[in-house]
Formats: sequence, structure tokens, C-alpha cells
Amino acid sequence: MKVSIGCDHGGFDLKLVIINWLKEQKINVIDLGNEVYNIDDDYPDFAEKVSRNVVSGISDKGIIICGSGVGACIAANKIKGARASVCHDTYSARQGVEHDCMNILCLGARVIGEQLAKELISAFLNATFLNELRYNKRLEKIKDLENKK
Ligand code: RB5
Repeated sequence: MKVSIGCDHGGFDLKLVIINWLKEQKINVIDLGNEVYNIDDDYPDFAEKVSRNVVSGISDKGIIICGSGVGACIAANKIKGARASVCHDTYSARQGVEHDCMNILCLGARVIGEQLAKELISAFLNATFLNELRYNKRLEKIKDLENKK
């Protein structure tokens, strides 16, 4: 499992905790920044990097952390093939993968604590898309939307 992770200043401290925790579990983590705390940085820059890594197959899944998770999610979903969502409950973090093929989890470091973040990430990373007809049909419709002008 390869995971790309990125954050803006709002998610910087939580990202450090999460990277160490993922490495302890021998998960292959690609840190796409920000590398330093910079109050002037902008979440779309990191959302784009994580999304491109996931969409290109460099990583299997992505995690983006900003203050609320919302901005990162909006930006990530502009990249074709990115299926990002803010999930602050474990049901959605798991089901979003199983039913909707979510490939990027967005978290709000100003909303949740470290322990919940870890539980959300575990639910997200341990889930796999359920290859059922109804889920595949919906996924194809999402792909069609991406190609509509
Ligand atoms: C940054 O201050 C903050 O606006 C950003 O991290 C995020 O919350 C946007 O959704």
C-alpha cells in the first residue's frame, strides 16, 4: 500500500503525527508537503500533488489535511480521476471506498483530534471497492460526468 499525503498550514501538525504513525505500521508514505509550516501556503497546491499521484497510480490512495478538510476536498475533485471526500466518521471513511471508490481522504485538523484521525485513516486504508454491478454502474456514471463539457 502506497499512500501520498499533503497538507497546508492548517493540517501541518497533524500531518507530522500521521506520517510517523503510518511509518510505524510499515506503510509506504510519500510526503508531498508542505515540508515546513508556512501560514501563507495554499491547500490547492498540495491537493493537486496528492491527487495527481493517486490518479497516475504512483500511490494507491491519498490523504490531504487542511483546517476543515473542505478546501482540500474541493480542490482535489478538480483533478480528473480523483474521488475525494471529507470524512469525519468511520462509517463514511470505509463505505466511501467500498461503494464510491473514494481514493482520497480529506481531514480537517481544526475539527478532529489525532485519535479520530488515525481511526478514520485505518477505516479508509483497510477498505476496498466492492466490485458489484451497482457500484460499478455508478462509478461509470461519475466517469461520464468527468467527460461532459
Ligand atoms: C487555512 O487557514 C484554511 O482556510 C484551510 O486549511 C482549510 O480549512 C480550507 O478548507
